[in-house]
Amino acid sequence: MRVFQNVSDIGDLRTALDEAFEIKKDRYKYSTIGKNKTCLLIFFNNSLRTRLSTQKAAMNLGMNVIVLDVNQGAWKLETERGVIMDGDKSEHLLEAIPVMGCYCDIIGVRSFATFQNRADDYEEKILNQFIQYSGKPVFFMESATVHPLQSFADLITIEEYKRNKRPKVVLSWAPHPKALPQAVPNSFAQWMRAADVDFVVTHPEGYELDPQFVGDTKVEYDQMRAFEGADFIYAKNWSCPGVTRPADYGRVLNTDRSWTVDDRHMAVTNNAFFMHCLPVRRNMIVTDSVIESPTSIVIPEAANREISAQVVLKRMIQSL
Ligand code: CP
Repeated sequence: MRVFQNVSDIGDLRTALDEAFEIKKDRYKYSTIGKNKTCLLIFFNNSLRTRLSTQKAAMNLGMNVIVLDVNQGAWKLETERGVIMDGDKSEHLLEAIPVMGCYCDIIGVRSFATFQNRADDYEEKILNQFIQYSGKPVFFMESATVHPLQSFADLITIEEYKRNKRPKVVLSWAPHPKALPQAVPNSFAQWMRAADVDFVVTHPEGYELDPQFVGDTKVEYDQMRAFEGADFIYAKNWSCPGVTRPADYGRVLNTDRSWTVDDRHMAVTNNAFFMHCLPVRRNMIVTDSVIESPTSIVIPEAANREISAQVVLKRMIQSL
């Protein structure tokens, strides 16, 4: 595997899940395949789970790990070609990327949407430069449009907890005070469409996800109706994807707290499990009561980030 960005990059999902459960049973089974290999993790944005789980996964495989926080200690990077660099940016990404590639075997990159230009974000301008110029396999640790390590972990979690063969999984928008990217819901939609689940999306009007990710998934604008009979509720905020009105891209259009997932919502589900990628703002996205309930699986979901990262790194090492 040279790139991990989309669900198609992982191949057959059943095979990937079997590999995940094999690793979960014994996460040190492949503890020598990464010997003398270096994994470089580059963060343009903050992280708790991705940073720790991916380091742990690489160490489980015997890899060396280098972590670079671009905005803390590295030179400020220019990302646009053709710019006269007379400002505060000392280095261009076009030199920095191949240099970083010299010091490692595999690169993971986190670089969120900037919301300055929808086309740049949706063309994955930053991550594509890493793919093009690093000369190394690149995995996405949340980019402008996708968060595949999260979605793979979500799928592993659903597979572990499902009580029927084809569970109903609902992705629900929920309110948040700040404009958040669409990477998590985009990827979640992409992965759920590829999985054997009955997938429904619910959000207020104006929050329609890009069709390249959501396809022809059923969208239910009545949140309570969407929740009826659900086996899994996956809550997440996202800002306007700008599908119907490009001028609204990245804007907060709605802060309606009636969309906060509470006991009233969960009561119409099939005793659904509650999921969220974390970090989560309590009593905005979900009430204390729901996230602390016995059916909240946000912690095992986060724990599976180590497993999803380990499957991806193992495959990348095997293809070096
Ligand atoms: N879910 C997730 O990616 O968490 P972090 O932003 O803390 O890495």
